[in-house]
Amino acid sequence: MSDRNAVFLQEMGLGPLWQRRDNPGAVHPAPSAGALEAATVDDGLPVAPGFDAPPAQEVARMDWAQLQASVAGCVKCGLCHGRTRTVFGVGDAKARWLFIGEGPGRNEDLQGEPFIGQAGRLLDNMLAAVGLRRDENAFIANIVKCRAVDESGRDRPPTAEEAAACMPYLERQIALIQPTILVALGKTAALSLLGLDPDTPVSRLRGKVHEFAGRPLVVTYHPAYLLRSPAEKKKAWEDLCLATATYAAAD
Ligand code: URA
Ligand code: SF4
Repeated sequence: MSDRNAVFLQEMGLGPLWQRRDNPGAVHPAPSAGALEAATVDDGLPVAPGFDAPPAQEVARMDWAQLQASVAGCVKCGLCHGRTRTVFGVGDAKARWLFIGEGPGRNEDLQGEPFIGQAGRLLDNMLAAVGLRRDENAFIANIVKCRAVDESGRDRPPTAEEAAACMPYLERQIALIQPTILVALGKTAALSLLGLDPDTPVSRLRGKVHEFAGRPLVVTYHPAYLLRSPAEKKKAWEDLCLATATYAAAD
């Protein structure tokens, strides 16, 4: 393990790594003693009126540049009104790893890039811990490309309708990138991708490999949640281990 990786793991408050001797490139985490405890995540998904169905077939034929342009000018759901910039995603368009967050917050809306700030730094550390960087074998996208705010102007999770309106873009991103593995960051991403009941806790989705768009999907906590609940970082590390093992088996 490089000193750099050790520093990242320390930053995450996590344990040592071991490397497989027959494949030194593949980094695997040391097995952890902690069992998968139940955890409660209380960021519920509000429900709002529906919007017009997106022209999914059109989106499904777009190339990368057309898709970017289409997102930049999109008015398919109400989130278009409050946004400063759309946030298409960032990273390597040929990445084997696709990380999926919820949607842009205030800073992301201003800068047009996902996961800026403290949660972004933690995500970068999570990437580094499995040998990835934003621009190297990883792509970071969100369920919705525009910022969602409540009446007081605070960030809120997108509604199920907003998530559904935006989904064809993410589906096309997946079809074009062709990642080997998807990692859902937090409740909104996991529930939107898996079409699950808003009451499903992330804890119930961890520890197994799901599927989305014919690709393996691993669910973990959102970096912003991990900042609020640092004791859960150990579990996020276990999730990254599962994702790494799944990736190694699939690639
Ligand atoms: N949270 C997310 O889920 N996505 C971002 O891009 C920023 C914060
Ligand atoms: Fe379009 Fe998605 Fe933005 Fe809604 S959130 S306006 S569907 S890009």
